[in-house]
Amino acid sequence: MGLLNGRVAVVTGTSRGVGVGIARELLLEGATVIGCSRSALPALPAADGIAGAAERSAQWVCDQGDHGSIDQFVGRVVDTYGRIDILVNNAGGTVPSPSVESVPSLVSRIQGAPTSDDDYERSVLFHAFAIQMNLISPLWFAIRVYRQMKEQEGTGSIVNISSGAGHPAGSPTLVSYGAAKSGLNHLTRSLAQEWGPKVRVNCLALGPTMTENFQSFVLPDDDKSGRQYFQKVPLQRAGEPREVGRACVFLCSGQADFVNGTTIEIDGGMLPGVLYEAGLKTITDLL
Ligand SMILES: NC(=O)c1ccc[n+]([C@@H]2O[C@H](COP(=O)([O-])OP(=O)(O)OC[C@H]3O[C@@H](n4cnc5c(N)ncnc54)[C@H](OP(=O)(O)O)[C@@H]3O)[C@@H](O)[C@H]2O)c1
Repeated sequence: MGLLNGRVAVVTGTSRGVGVGIARELLLEGATVIGCSRSALPALPAADGIAGAAERSAQWVCDQGDHGSIDQFVGRVVDTYGRIDILVNNAGGTVPSPSVESVPSLVSRIQGAPTSDDDYERSVLFHAFAIQMNLISPLWFAIRVYRQMKEQEGTGSIVNISSGAGHPAGSPTLVSYGAAKSGLNHLTRSLAQEWGPKVRVNCLALGPTMTENFQSFVLPDDDKSGRQYFQKVPLQRAGEPREVGRACVFLCSGQADFVNGTTIEIDGGMLPGVLYEAGLKTITDLL
């Protein structure tokens, strides 16, 4: 028996990266998993190679920047599967910028933010986009899913995927992203207080995690395994998406029934600030 047998889980941002590792671990523990992304895919990538997982998974389009799209997506999940027990708010992310007041157009383009030829306008749009995607959209998703959870039998679990950039020490090069993730940690506590005992709300603050984008845009070309890069991190490596998935399984299972409103750091024991300079180098080399 899996720890999550019979549970229906929504995971955002499952077309690549950390979301694939999360969806896969939930599937391996028996959950039905419905993932989403802006890009259309024929099936949930995480289901690949797991016997029977294709029948209890789906990958549908949803743009979390549009609350109407979230409403439609969640409605479709409930119409199809009858309930939602788990939400993992994973979609989000950013690209480091060498200056907060003048965001280079390359950084803005890689991030996928609305852009402009005007330097000031491009910078303010970039920051608004980071806060929308890493704070406001997860709140929209949580609200829409809670409205369903409170009407159904049993208790629900929401996990917000945050970042070490939200640490109170500050996050130069990731100013708006860090502020958004710090807000996500705070919002986790507030929602846990509003929504208990019906729904538990927790948060995972990730350190660097090995994804395709992390390898392309952060790790230097001559150190793609990160051997040099992670020397100042006690465990001397990045996290893996499946390790984030294991922590999600714990938080959403009966093993964490009394864990609520908390943010767990999952970063190999990294101290704040040790990688900001190194993390910017690949981008500045591209500029
Ligand atoms: N990787 C790290 O080192 C790291 C470190 C700390 C925290 N995190 C956090 O972990 C989470 C996942 O990051 P990642 O590294 O896996 O990012 P990623 O590789 O860029 O993947 C992001 C996922 O979210 C989807 N997505 C993006 N915008 C979306 C939108 N508007 N609506 C719906 N889906 C959207 C993407 O698919 P589409 O593009 O097709 O929409 C993709 O599936 C983020 O919250 C990030 O802040 C990551």
